Formats: sequence, C-alpha cells, structure tokens
Amino acid sequence: MFGKNIRKIVGANRFWILPLLEGASFLTFKLNYFAHKLMYFVEWCPPEPTFVDRYSNLSYTWIKTRNPMWVERGVFNNLLIKKNGKVLDLACGDGFNTRNFYSLKAKEILAVDIDVGAISKAISKNSLNNITYKIMDLKKDFPHEKFDNIIMDAVLQHFSPKEIKMLFNKIKLALNTKGIFSGNAIAEVDCKDKKELESYLKTFFKHITIYETFYPDRHNLYFVASNYPFSKNNFFDYKLKK
Ligand SMILES: C[S@@+](CC[C@H](N)C(=O)[O-])C[C@H]1O[C@@H](n2cnc3c(N)ncnc32)[C@H](O)[C@@H]1O
Repeated sequence: MFGKNIRKIVGANRFWILPLLEGASFLTFKLNYFAHKLMYFVEWCPPEPTFVDRYSNLSYTWIKTRNPMWVERGVFNNLLIKKNGKVLDLACGDGFNTRNFYSLKAKEILAVDIDVGAISKAISKNSLNNITYKIMDLKKDFPHEKFDNIIMDAVLQHFSPKEIKMLFNKIKLALNTKGIFSGNAIAEVDCKDKKELESYLKTFFKHITIYETFYPDRHNLYFVASNYPFSKNNFFDYKLKK
C-alpha cells in the first residue's frame, strides 16, 4: 500500500503509532460489540426471526460465549466447493456465509431466499461481483441451471416431508455429474435425527456421509451427498474423517 520509504519511517515510529491505533481499535471494538449486542437483543425479541444477521455472531455472540459453532456451516461447505465452480446457495439468509465462506473459491454463486428482508440485507451487506441474490420460494420455483455445488443450511424445518422429497429431487437434477450437495440440518428441528436425514438423502443420492457435532443446546447434522463417488471426484480429492 505504501512506498518503501514511508514504511521505513512508520516502522521507526511504531513505538508511539501502535499504542495510538490500539486505543482507537479498542474503542471501536467496544462500540461495535455494544451495537451488535443491541441488534441481537432486538432480533431475538418475539416473534422468533427466520434468519439472523451473522455480523451479530461475529461481533457479539462469538466474543461473549466463545462458542464457534456458528462458523461450522461455512467452513464445512467451503471445504467441498469446487475451485472456480458454480454454486447455488439455497435459503441463503443474510448472505454472510455466501460472501465470507463461499465466494472466494467459487467462480459464480446464485443465492436465493424467500424472505425479501433477507435478500435486501444480503444485497446491502454481503454483495460481490460473483454473487447474484434472488428472491425465490423454493416450494414453487427452482433455478433452471446446473451447478457444481448446491448448499442448503438449516432450512428443512420450513418444509413438509413431501416438500423435502420434491426439493431433494430438484437438487439432484440441478447438479452436474460430479456435483455435490452439502449442508446442515439441526436435529429435532430440521429433522428428527441422523437416520431420518439419511433416509431422505438415500432416495436421491448414492453416496452420503453425515458428520455430527454436539453442543449443549444444539445437535448438528452436516451432510455431503452426491451421485459421483467422493473418492473419484477430482475436486473432492480428500475424505473428511469423523
Ligand atoms: C435458519 S435460516 C438459514 C439461513 C442460512 N442458510 C444460514 O445458514 O445462515 C432459514 C432460511 O430459510 C428461508 N426459507 C424458508 N422457507 C423458504 C422457502 N420456501 N424458499 C426459500 N427460502 C426459504 C428463510 O427465509 C431463512 O432465511
């Protein structure tokens, strides 16, 4: 960013510049924490929200609770994304994961959600050149394109068993030959348990793996499903261990 000489002068003066910047950083951190604490409080007043602003997790709940669960979905799906691939993020919520976990590896992303507020927030806070946000009710509509990765996190609670089967069939048809469907379901919320999630996936995909994480108030089911063997897939060339 700065020329060599300027960097040298700044380096020689870091003994007073750094404490000044640390003071400014501390004050803005506290302000940021407090603003997101208030935002989180308002968001969770009844009725319960269908999506949340993940910047509250980043700036408030993570620091307060030290619980890293909220990043698991993003990290997990990111590992499975084809480099320079085409990604579909179903029910993307505020688009935080779309931007901050998927957009670096993917060439292009289509991210859809039924909620006008979620898509407006995604556009205002998490826009990028390679992401297209679109309002879409997945019970009535589905993108007419093919994708390398389809991601779906914490959405099944909004669908009946019949609707889940219809959705999974559309997902299967929208995947490229080596395509991967991945995501998260919360046990006892999105589906009963691992067995039930497996039974839905088994109808449409030959290769399925489900990983579980347990927290005091949540049991997560992370799934990978494909009709192409994971081990032969040239972008999924490693196997996650349990
Ligand atoms: C718990 S949030 C998950 C958001 C995001 N996937 C994440 O993990 O942060 C569930 C999302 O599903 C969306 N949704 C519910 N029903 C839907 C439907 N029929 N079509 C599209 N999106 C839907 C909601 O608007 C909400 O943003």
